[in-house]
Amino acid sequence: MKVGVPKEIKTHEYRVGLTPGAVREYVAAGHSVLVETNAGAGIGATDDNYRKAGATILESAREVFASSEMIVKVKEPQPSEWVQLRESQILFTYLHLAPDPEQAKGLLKSGCTAVAYETVTDAVGGLPLLAPMSEVAGRLAIEAAGAALKRYAGGRGLLIGGVPGVQPARIVVIGGGVVGTHAARMAIGLGAEVTILDRSIPRLRELDELFEGRVRTRFSTIDAVEEEVFAADVVIGAVLVPGASAPKLVGRRMLGSMRKGSVIVDVAIDQGGCFETSRPTTHAAPTYEVEGVIHYCVANMPGAVPRTSSQALNNATLPFGLALASKGFAAVLEDPHLRAGLNVHHGRLTCRAVAESLGLPFSPIDQAAA
Ligand SMILES: NC(=O)c1ccc[n+]([C@@H]2O[C@H](COP(=O)([O-])OP(=O)(O)OC[C@H]3O[C@@H](n4cnc5c(N)ncnc54)[C@H](O)[C@@H]3O)[C@@H](O)[C@H]2O)c1
Repeated sequence: MKVGVPKEIKTHEYRVGLTPGAVREYVAAGHSVLVETNAGAGIGATDDNYRKAGATILESAREVFASSEMIVKVKEPQPSEWVQLRESQILFTYLHLAPDPEQAKGLLKSGCTAVAYETVTDAVGGLPLLAPMSEVAGRLAIEAAGAALKRYAGGRGLLIGGVPGVQPARIVVIGGGVVGTHAARMAIGLGAEVTILDRSIPRLRELDELFEGRVRTRFSTIDAVEEEVFAADVVIGAVLVPGASAPKLVGRRMLGSMRKGSVIVDVAIDQGGCFETSRPTTHAAPTYEVEGVIHYCVANMPGAVPRTSSQALNNATLPFGLALASKGFAAVLEDPHLRAGLNVHHGRLTCRAVAESLGLPFSPIDQAAA
């Protein structure tokens, strides 16, 4: 199959869909890989590195989209990219369609087959292509919070870990999945006081064991969220209902009772965010303030550390990408985990949670395949 890798065009997005190492694997499996010139610049991979791995370098994204049967990207396609997708072309990338009706319309209109990294599943009920970026974003969330807590940045002027004799920052993590666990790990490492809230009691049990008493865990109710958020210096939003828009757990009215200069890092912003006052920001202008509370809502956090992120992402996407390249749409029909990733096919929405969030009709895969 001809596999295309355009350069990412989202603001301050430096990751790349395929690293030279991944290209080598596709070529070894008999595929042709077409890479837009400079696509790997953000991770220090030159066109020559890609040529040595067996890729052909094309001068423009337009040529890559026109010549490829499958497109491998990182971020959701931007408006200038939707219009280049076509019927029966496979798109393999993050989509986050639930809060993005415009993109959904664009993809439906294109007729393409879009497999979203974030809804591909694994045998143990995990999200294997979301997990590596959630690991990165969770860890970065604490760095972002530390920066925003600085007085000159509008924050409370707190050092996350405090110093001997001075109490550390109180960090509340809502959602104890992959993002939440990695945020907690970093926060504990810096010496913060950490509480994790989750709706899943089994997950809270696992976290209790994992952190051996170094975090407080709480079942997430309206009461618990209010109490914890009001007393926090930092709140990390890390909830996920797969495929669906994030539930809004902290309303605008609650901000008035939060500490002035406290910091919200809404990692779940790519699914619409779990704070009512969240709106997506970019690495160019990552924060804004509402009622004295600093909001950090960057929708592509891992894009800031593209070398780490591209490597981690490619490690996870490689087997699925190779299956798609080798078998085409049949790979989706054969593998229930790739099928869970199928969001759009031939102008129909094939992921129930996405369709419900958008208020659009859902077409089960057998019907959509017809
Ligand atoms: N902004 C970024 O750059 C970026 C990067 C990676 C991931 N993300 C996003 O971060 C979010 C979390 O991802 P993840 O991989 O950790 O997901 P996950 O599925 O591993 O964890 C989500 C957790 O949220 C919990 N949860 C669901 N509803 C809840 C509620 N009402 N109260 C408390 N907990 C609740 C679940 O039980 C689960 O443990 C997702 O929206 C993901 O897309 C964003």
